[in-house]
Amino acid sequence: MPRDVSIAVVGATGAVGLEFLKVLEQRAFPVSSVRLFASPRSVGKQLAVNGKPVSVEQTHPGCFNGVDFAFISVSSELSEELAPQAVEAGALVIDDSSAFRMRPEVPLVVPEINGQDMEEHRGIISIPNCSTTQMVMAIAPLHAVNPVRRIVVDSYQSVSGAGSGAMEELRSQANATLTGEDDILSSRIAFNLRPQIGDFLSSGYTKEEEKMSEETRKIMHAPDMAVSATCVRVPVLVCHSEAVHIESEGPWSVTDARNLLANFPGVSIIDNPQAGEYPMPWDLAGTDDVYVGRIRQDWSHPNGLAMWVVADNLRKGAALNAIQIAEEVLRRDCLKPTSSLSQASSA
Ligand SMILES: NC(=O)c1ccc[n+]([C@@H]2O[C@H](COP(=O)([O-])OP(=O)(O)OC[C@H]3O[C@@H](n4cnc5c(N)ncnc54)[C@H](OP(=O)(O)O)[C@@H]3O)[C@@H](O)[C@H]2O)c1
Repeated sequence: MPRDVSIAVVGATGAVGLEFLKVLEQRAFPVSSVRLFASPRSVGKQLAVNGKPVSVEQTHPGCFNGVDFAFISVSSELSEELAPQAVEAGALVIDDSSAFRMRPEVPLVVPEINGQDMEEHRGIISIPNCSTTQMVMAIAPLHAVNPVRRIVVDSYQSVSGAGSGAMEELRSQANATLTGEDDILSSRIAFNLRPQIGDFLSSGYTKEEEKMSEETRKIMHAPDMAVSATCVRVPVLVCHSEAVHIESEGPWSVTDARNLLANFPGVSIIDNPQAGEYPMPWDLAGTDDVYVGRIRQDWSHPNGLAMWVVADNLRKGAALNAIQIAEEVLRRDCLKPTSSLSQASSA
């Protein structure tokens, strides 16, 4: 049995942080002590951790001393500042932001797919973008038997992917529209779709779409896998949905694909379209698996397969994946880094 560990949760009051505290308790993660951090606005707030109230603190020099795992769920800019402090204090950082994901010395991990990568960590392990995680969970078991050459994906991403503020914005916009007090002039998301997540790049793709391409290649160890994404924000509170089209080396039998997916840990099939059964975000919020349905041969390509993939972005897309990484670190007994981050970056 792994020993109990001391953890810090930075961003504990955010959309991911609050879900993290639920997952921590549900999975009985072995903690000896928990410290919670957020912005100065939240200092003194009490949050329940394993049924007991814990006060939220502000980060300060030395706040990571004695911490084994620092789970960081704040902006990339803040992660860049805080993660090195935590590493310096001897903690293993599991970071939810995009700050470190593409650094060669930082493992980017979905434990069911590339858990072995974490053994080479140097103090920081990143989790992927939420839209990437659920897509690679549905691609990996297929890629293992019939290599995937190209992915075309359209995402339908919930507002919680942009944090607790965006959830509040959807609620208040929807209410204002329904009560006829609608004076929303810009950034409307209620009863709307927005085909932009992240800034636009010179390629015409957005930053979110670039993340889906680059992170997928890194996690899958598939530098030549072609990925084209269109990421859309939709007026859904929780769960991202994706229409995923793959082209593989050889043709697909739908039965084989369904069996491969059904046997992969963390993937569930809901695929009885004639009966109106397919994954939908409202039904699946608060659950752990990645759900796949509408599995069919893509009739526009001889080696193509199409599917519909839904998962809770706050759980498998963030908090659950982070805790699964920590569980796997304990199982593999690799809490301490193979070398320091500073040694790695000077190499
Ligand atoms: N949401 C998702 O589905 C998802 C999925 C994967 C990865 N991520 C990543 O996870 C990170 C957090 O996302 P989120 O959705 O949870 O955002 P969020 O709901 O906006 O929460 C942000 C958190 O950061 C805290 N914070 C702000 N300033 C701080 C400071 N100076 N010191 C310490 N804490 C501070 C906030 O505290 P206050 O409450 O006190 O302001 C809050 O707890 C982001 O990098 C995001 O890209 C999110």
